[in-house]
Amino acid sequence: MTYDTVIRGGTVVTAADTVRCDVGIRDGRIVALADGLDEAETMIDASDRLVLPGGIDSHVHIAQKQGEGIVMADDFASATLSAAHGGNTMVLPFCLQEDGQTLREALTAYHAKADGQCYIDVGFHIIVTDPTDQVLGQELPALVADGYSSIKIFMTYDDLKLSDLEMLKVMDTARATGALVMVHAENYDAIRFMTDRLEQAGKTQPHHHATSRPIVVEREATHRAISLAELIDVPIMIVHVSNREAMDEIRRAQQKGLKVYGETCPQYLVLTERDLEGLNMEGSKYVCSPPPRDEASQVACWEGLTTGVFSVFSSDHCPFRYEDEQGKQIPKGRTSFRWVPNGIPGVEARLPILFSEGVSKGRMDINRFVQLTSTNHAKLYGMYPRKGTIAVGADADIAIWDPKREMTISQSLKHHGADYTPYEGFKVVGWPTLTMVRGRVVAQDGETVGALDWGQHVARDRSSF
Ligand code: URP
Ligand code: ZN
Ligand code: ZN
Repeated sequence: MTYDTVIRGGTVVTAADTVRCDVGIRDGRIVALADGLDEAETMIDASDRLVLPGGIDSHVHIAQKQGEGIVMADDFASATLSAAHGGNTMVLPFCLQEDGQTLREALTAYHAKADGQCYIDVGFHIIVTDPTDQVLGQELPALVADGYSSIKIFMTYDDLKLSDLEMLKVMDTARATGALVMVHAENYDAIRFMTDRLEQAGKTQPHHHATSRPIVVEREATHRAISLAELIDVPIMIVHVSNREAMDEIRRAQQKGLKVYGETCPQYLVLTERDLEGLNMEGSKYVCSPPPRDEASQVACWEGLTTGVFSVFSSDHCPFRYEDEQGKQIPKGRTSFRWVPNGIPGVEARLPILFSEGVSKGRMDINRFVQLTSTNHAKLYGMYPRKGTIAVGADADIAIWDPKREMTISQSLKHHGADYTPYEGFKVVGWPTLTMVRGRVVAQDGETVGALDWGQHVARDRSSF
């Protein structure tokens, strides 16, 4: 047999082209794109289907240590399974440098959680919380060379935030090593001030999470992060942008010629801060940072996706169980929104939401969808063209889509470890029906057919952006 698998009769879509052809796969790689391929052990019929590069979600949190008494709902097994059923072939979670840890120690511990526990491929970003001379001078350069070529830094959260001086030092190291710096841009002191005032006024319900971190807090931090990056002359990625004002800071920087990239997420397209207003603790299901805003902000985020201000669309999957005292209902959380774990699940819903609201509703073409959900992630995070496209020589990471299938997003269809989805009841047109990683089918029509040890860690190059 010439091929292990042939995907026959589909419409193959890349970031640039839409072509009717078959896909020939051998030894986990794409080896032929042509008409009339046969001679395969396995034939997959893709008539009336779209054949897309598998989704790459470059912003997910898996088995990441949280505050006292809080446990994340997903380990690598459940997160990567959920991702596969959502049409993804790779995810990039964050390896957190915990208190007193070297980066190597953090990575060794994180690999131990992931090894043999992944349905799809993974790559790790590193969260730097303690940028000592040793970390910046020795550890980071060695790790970038070893394939961990992106760093996330935080401007808020008690245990994670860096000062401006620390940010400058991390950016300086990134410039020297070619790592890409991802920035969580919210002003820590402003949020603390707001939180204290709200609590003093007895405004402690979950929806005050949104009141405590208004748009100005995100805009100011975005402006500051961009200014610091301009000073160092280093590319940065502003992650999870929620509104026009922050987006305009990125756009202005891009117009000046700075290498500033942006990301937005489904919660900023289809949720609003009103979702946080549920009775009792219901609103905690939507607590994430930055918080969802209003309809005008949704329009702005769509504009950012279609005009190119945003290069990537990620989920910021960060799941906690709702009916769980180690999750959204941690007892302290009832006393104040301050203690409610930040984050919502979304890795399985990301692609259907963007496909349906974006492609099916005519806001963007299918090639832009592929750029935003796969190709640009691969380019930005140093994996292109091995990942993120359908081309001869690329890994056979493929998602087959039924563009007409009507579905309703529901917890009953989900494979994540959370016990709810914030997108419950959301109707979509377009659904991933088969996900294949390096030539092996992992998920098909809601059935898991892959193996828990198939996913591999992918060492990454420097960003090609
Ligand atoms: O609320 C969120 N987004 N939690 C995840 C951590 C982060 O800031 O990305
Ligand atoms: Zn963040
Ligand atoms: Zn995040």
